[in-house]
Amino acid sequence: MSDKKIIIAIDGYSSSGKSTMARALAAKIGYRYIDSGAMYRAVTLYALNNNMIDAQGNIDTSALISVLPSISIDFRPMPDGTQHTLLNGEDVETEIRQLRVSDNVSPIAAIKEVRAALTAMQRSLGKDKGIVMDGRDIGTTVFPNAELKIFVNASAEMRARRRFLEMSDKGDNVNYEEVLANVVRRDHIDETRAESPLRRADDAIDLDNSYMTHEEQDAWLEQQVNKALHS
Ligand code: DC
Repeated sequence: MSDKKIIIAIDGYSSSGKSTMARALAAKIGYRYIDSGAMYRAVTLYALNNNMIDAQGNIDTSALISVLPSISIDFRPMPDGTQHTLLNGEDVETEIRQLRVSDNVSPIAAIKEVRAALTAMQRSLGKDKGIVMDGRDIGTTVFPNAELKIFVNASAEMRARRRFLEMSDKGDNVNYEEVLANVVRRDHIDETRAESPLRRADDAIDLDNSYMTHEEQDAWLEQQVNKALHS
C-alpha cells in the first residue's frame, strides 16, 4: 500500500452489500471502518426504547431532538474483526438489525437535527483520514472531498433476497415479500427526503454488483483504491 491516507466513501441503496464490502476493504488496507447506517439505527432504537415512536410510527420529534446531545454512539472492535455498535455504552448490535428498527429508521434519518448531529460525529471520526465509511450521503454531504467515492447499486429484488437470506440465517422469522416491501419503502424515503437524500455524488464511481461475487467485487474495489492512492 502507500503512506498516503485517504477517505473512502461508499454510498448506495439499502442491502446493496456495501457494509460487507466496506468492512472487508478496511480490514485489508488497515483503515478504520465506520457503518454510518448503524448510527441512524442506534438513534432509532433509542427513540423506540424511550417511547418516542408510537405504534403507528409517529415520532415525537421535539422530544428526540432535545435528547440528541445525550446520545453517545461508539463502535467496539470484536475479536472476529467485526465491530459492534454501542449506544450509551451498551452493545446494541443485535437489536439495531431487527425489523422493528429497520421499519422505523428512514423517517428518523429524515430529521434534519438527527442528520446534523450524526454528520458532526462522522466528520470527527474521519478527521485523521484512513477511514472507510459507508452510508447514503457520505460522498455528497459528510465528506464531499473524499479521495475515493463509490456508489453501489443492485436491483431491489436482489437486495431483498440477500437481506432475507441473511435474516433467515440468523433465525429471524421473516417472509420475502415483507423484506422486499421494506427495501422498496426505504429506497423511496431515502431518495425523496429533503435533507441529504440518497444521491450519487457527481464524482462517484458506479458499482452494480447484482451479478458479482464477493471476490470479484473485492478485486474491483482494490483496483479503485490503488488508483486513488497513486493519483
Ligand atoms: O445502511 P442501513 O440500511 O443500515 O441504513 C439504515 C437507514 O439509515 C437507512 O434507511 C438510510 C439511513 N442512512 C442515512 O440516511 N444516511 C446514512 N449515511 C446512512 C444511513
